[in-house]
Amino acid sequence: MITCGTTAQSVTAEVARALEEPLVNIRADGSIDAKEGSTISADERIVIIVSTTSDRAHLELLELQERAMKRDPEEVITVLPYMGYARQDKVFEPGEPISSRAIAKAISASTDRVFTVNPHKEHVLDFFEVPAESVDAAPRLAGALPTDLTRPIFLSPDEGATRITRSVRDAYGSGTVDNFVKYRKSATDVQMTSGEVDVSGRDIVLVDDMISTGGTMKEAVSILDDQNAKRIFVTCVHPVLADKAVSKVYQAGVEDIYATDTIDRSVSRISSAPVITEVL
Ligand code: R5P
Repeated sequence: MITCGTTAQSVTAEVARALEEPLVNIRADGSIDAKEGSTISADERIVIIVSTTSDRAHLELLELQERAMKRDPEEVITVLPYMGYARQDKVFEPGEPISSRAIAKAISASTDRVFTVNPHKEHVLDFFEVPAESVDAAPRLAGALPTDLTRPIFLSPDEGATRITRSVRDAYGSGTVDNFVKYRKSATDVQMTSGEVDVSGRDIVLVDDMISTGGTMKEAVSILDDQNAKRIFVTCVHPVLADKAVSKVYQAGVEDIYATDTIDRSVSRISSAPVITEVL
């Protein structure tokens, strides 16, 4: 059986449909609220799907895990389409906590396994105290792109996103891969130097694991504009899109923004359900 919290409801429904497993609500006492006629056996596995986009969502996940455990199932699997705090994966400034490790430990307490979609850095998986694996939704971004791109360049705004940029290009089937080098001056301000390939007259697909404030994409688009790139498309797996990030990126002059539904936003047009279903 599959259950979810307030976040990631659409992707959960799609996964449940694909796996033909009942989508249920587990009440506080461990009893089940499911569609009439659903066959639920006490010992089956329970899959909990929550994108931890806020502290409230983190708490909701821990509560759902506790409810699931009350049923004494054979296995509890936790799926994090988006894992919050994943960027805080080391001590950047003295005295800072490694928040993703603290969160991973808490999540591990009431689950047997964890899957998360494109974590910011793979090593956060080691913070879980149960087996944890990543799921790659990046290639699915290629499916949303126009099929008539002109000599496309798949461009990563920093070196960290080069791997997923290459996998989007591979899924698209043709194009050059390049990356910018980024230096972050503050939470909202970044400085970037352009890649090696001449972008003039070519279509650009910017690829990142997430867009948060939109500062990175805005800066990348401004450099590409100065260098006379043709059309610019922006893609990301996780559309965090804080505050006015969507308008910031569109205002910068992009043709379109494509993201997966690991977080429900207006640009979440690509389903991550197939790759999640595959590992379940
Ligand atoms: C950082 O390394 C990530 O891959 C993204 O580039 C970053 O999270 C984007 O943040 P923002 O949209 O705030 O510039």
